[in-house]
Amino acid sequence: MMDFPQDVEIVEVGPRDGLQNESACLSPPQRVLFIESLVESGVRTIEIGSFVSPKWVPQMAGTGEIYAAVKALPDIEMSALVPNMYGFKAAKAAGLKQIAVFAAASESFSKKNINASIAESLQRYEEVVTKALQAGIRVRGYVSCVLGCPYEGDVPLEKVVQVSKALLDMGCYEVSLGDTIGVGTPLKAIEMIRAVAAQVPIDKIAVHFHDTYGQALANILACLSIGVSKVDSSAGGLGGCPYAQGASGNVATEDVVYMLNGMGIQTGIDLNKLVLSSQPVFEQLGRVSESRVHRQIRAQMRL
Ligand code: HMG
Ligand code: MG
Repeated sequence: MMDFPQDVEIVEVGPRDGLQNESACLSPPQRVLFIESLVESGVRTIEIGSFVSPKWVPQMAGTGEIYAAVKALPDIEMSALVPNMYGFKAAKAAGLKQIAVFAAASESFSKKNINASIAESLQRYEEVVTKALQAGIRVRGYVSCVLGCPYEGDVPLEKVVQVSKALLDMGCYEVSLGDTIGVGTPLKAIEMIRAVAAQVPIDKIAVHFHDTYGQALANILACLSIGVSKVDSSAGGLGGCPYAQGASGNVATEDVVYMLNGMGIQTGIDLNKLVLSSQPVFEQLGRVSESRVHRQIRAQMRL
């Protein structure tokens, strides 16, 4: 019998990773409603947006305004991406208590995503994390392209380990390992997690799978079987990454919660309410969710 966790923490990234890659921009009030209804469904950890350049990612403009509207929701961890000191100052001014910095294990992706080499980005993040911790702000770290890069193909495991370790050493409380383009498969995912977990405690590792090739659930199951218990996902499977061509949405939160419910693993999320939270977003975007769990539950609710 494999040793699965009893509880899994879902980090809901739909309002950030989801919406950042949709061609339509939702207004801040629409984004606020989405976040509020996710909280209503039982989500407790949410990425609400990004403090990045609106020239690069216009979908995330207005994240400070959104935080002002949702910050009073009780007992919810809310975070936003920060790429540099400029973004950090904006997040701090908006009052965020938690932020996330995002590095990559591939040089080409790092350049395309944040216009900096890996080393330059780590140097920037060192300052961001130091200033954040001084201000009492917690920092999560992301590593992108952990199982492959859209420009370079295979990514050496040593690079994934090195960047993960660097982010934790500078003071991040956890690293989220991102299969940005969803090319991973279960045994490779296990090998990658084992390599990182040889250097850092496994309870500081979260997994972040995009579902481009339909492997995300299998990969998540594989990672849970070796001790991972934090999973990033996006309601309805919204999104992707604007700088990773062909990257489809994150694994759908509905798919993850349905699988975990069936395994008796707790997430605290109500599936019907979760479907209701992203349904208006898909209407606003003019498309339907690709999550089969989402579609099936919607059909059962006759929506
Ligand atoms: P740059 O062009 O090199 O920036 O972009 P710069 O420092 O040269 O500044 C250029 C202009 O941008 C200046 O304004 C700055 O003030 C402004 P100007 O003088 O021209 O008027 N600027 C900013 N404005 C707002 N917010 C800021 C900011 N910084 C500078 N923070 C930069 C560098 C990092 C800003 C840019 O590349 C950027 O915003 N990149 C973000 C890209 C992004 O959000 N990607 C998606 C998230 S990552 C992801 O999805 C992967 C993940 O999900 C995990 C996975 O799946 O693997 C996390
Ligand atoms: Mg992502």
